[in-house]
Amino acid sequence: MNGRIAGKRVLITGAARGMGRSHAVRLAEEGADLILVDICASLPDVEYPLSTPEDLAETARLITGLGRRAITHIVDVRDAEALTAAVDSAVAELGGLDASVANAGVLTAGTWDTTTSEQWRTVVDVNLIGTWNTCAAALPHLVERGGSLVNISSAAGIKGSPLHTPYTASKHGVVGMSKALANELAAVGVRVNTVHPTGVETGMQPASLHSLLVDKRPDLAPIFQNALPIVMAEAADISNAVLFLVSDESRYVTGLEFKVDAGVTIR
Ligand SMILES: NC(=O)c1ccc[n+]([C@@H]2O[C@H](COP(=O)([O-])OP(=O)(O)OC[C@H]3O[C@@H](n4cnc5c(N)ncnc54)[C@H](O)[C@@H]3O)[C@@H](O)[C@H]2O)c1
Repeated sequence: MNGRIAGKRVLITGAARGMGRSHAVRLAEEGADLILVDICASLPDVEYPLSTPEDLAETARLITGLGRRAITHIVDVRDAEALTAAVDSAVAELGGLDASVANAGVLTAGTWDTTTSEQWRTVVDVNLIGTWNTCAAALPHLVERGGSLVNISSAAGIKGSPLHTPYTASKHGVVGMSKALANELAAVGVRVNTVHPTGVETGMQPASLHSLLVDKRPDLAPIFQNALPIVMAEAADISNAVLFLVSDESRYVTGLEFKVDAGVTIR
């Protein structure tokens, strides 16, 4: 079998579209079989639509088109029990698991005085506890033989990105959780790393964030400006970092905050 991760079996959440789909395709190109999880439904506190069942089916079609296996499950990562059951059954089908990519996430926007407790709960529940649930569902299958947990944070997991405070807090939380797990699991050969993208054009687009920045707080716009002269990165740039962290090329890399951020966090 050819490829940098030939034969590895990888769980990806939020795999129906956007960066999750890109990670799935990149990993399959390098020989992985995949467990693809997504909620495939929208959430009341999130102002842009989330994915559909057709999106998830399309990701699976792209993977099988590359000659790799894809097992899909429509699951909300907030539901630990359902996620564990889905992962257990898919792992049984594939004969094992080597890595997980906790990529599902949501973004709400607002100033301090418009942010609601419902937004806080939804964002922390999906982005932080959902990432924990993903690690916890994968780990029973990894602790015997070692493996790699890749948790998708953000540039907002490193700097104080404003106008979406729950998101920034949740993405910082992913870093703390990942470093703590990296310490705990190093002894059993499980590596835990975070990935920190700058802006990437996907379906994650709350229209109100743009208008807040342009109309209300243009003084904050420089915080979002990349050092390298690009407005956005492409999903494939992030997928290449995920590929490295899943592969054995990174076998002695753990507890890393892997920035693919065009330098936005050095500003
Ligand atoms: N787009 C960016 O600029 C950017 C920048 C930094 C980090 N990120 C992070 O990258 C990851 C992927 O985001 P994206 O830009 O591809 O956005 P996206 O909205 O296109 O994709 C996110 C996917 O997660 C799924 N999802 C959301 N809530 C879920 C839940 N509760 N259970 C299961 N699936 C759920 C959605 O249906 C969707 O398919 C997220 O963690 C995001 O925070 C994005």
